Amino acid sequence: MSYSIAIHLLSAVIWVGGMIFAHNSLRPAAVQVLEPPLRLELWVQVFRRFFVLVWGSIALILITGYWMLFNYFGGFAGAGNHIHIMHGAGWIMVFVYMYVFFSPYRQLKHAVIVQDYPLAGAQLNRIRKLVGLNILIGMSVIIVASAGRYI
Ligand code: HEM
Repeated sequence: MSYSIAIHLLSAVIWVGGMIFAHNSLRPAAVQVLEPPLRLELWVQVFRRFFVLVWGSIALILITGYWMLFNYFGGFAGAGNHIHIMHGAGWIMVFVYMYVFFSPYRQLKHAVIVQDYPLAGAQLNRIRKLVGLNILIGMSVIIVASAGRYI
């Protein structure tokens, strides 16, 4: 349990913390400093690296989460409400991320290659909103997961 909870938490920190950094620090700074072509190219390069970490984090969160659930809580029947909420909200986060990866991110990459910057900007805007949504869900999940057992 000690290893799995540590890996589970670390993965959640990397995923949610990375999104908050990108959304709340890097995005406004890039708007201030860079013109659209360079800024959009920067985001493609940022996402290319960050999404590798996100795929890894998701895999580790799911593996360790189900491992703890079935080895220490005896499956869904033995789990408290905070775990059920984490489980449901966690999957919503995964689906939102997969949608970002396979739809607007793909279109952003293509639009940057063909230098269609208005289209690229529109896709970046979609990603911004969806990442904002996942930040809100992720922070709620962390609150429920950590405080839930004391409620
Ligand atoms: C989607 C499948 C997931 C499963 C099956 C799962 C399962 C679990 C289990 C069994 C625990 C131990 C609970 C306890 O000790 O009371 C746990 C802890 C935790 N999980 Fe998840 N989890 C999932 C997703 C997530 C996600 C997406 C996040 C955050 C973004 C997250 C954040 C946490 C945190 C912060 C804890 C630590 C609670 C604590 O010990 O204080 N989990 N998870």
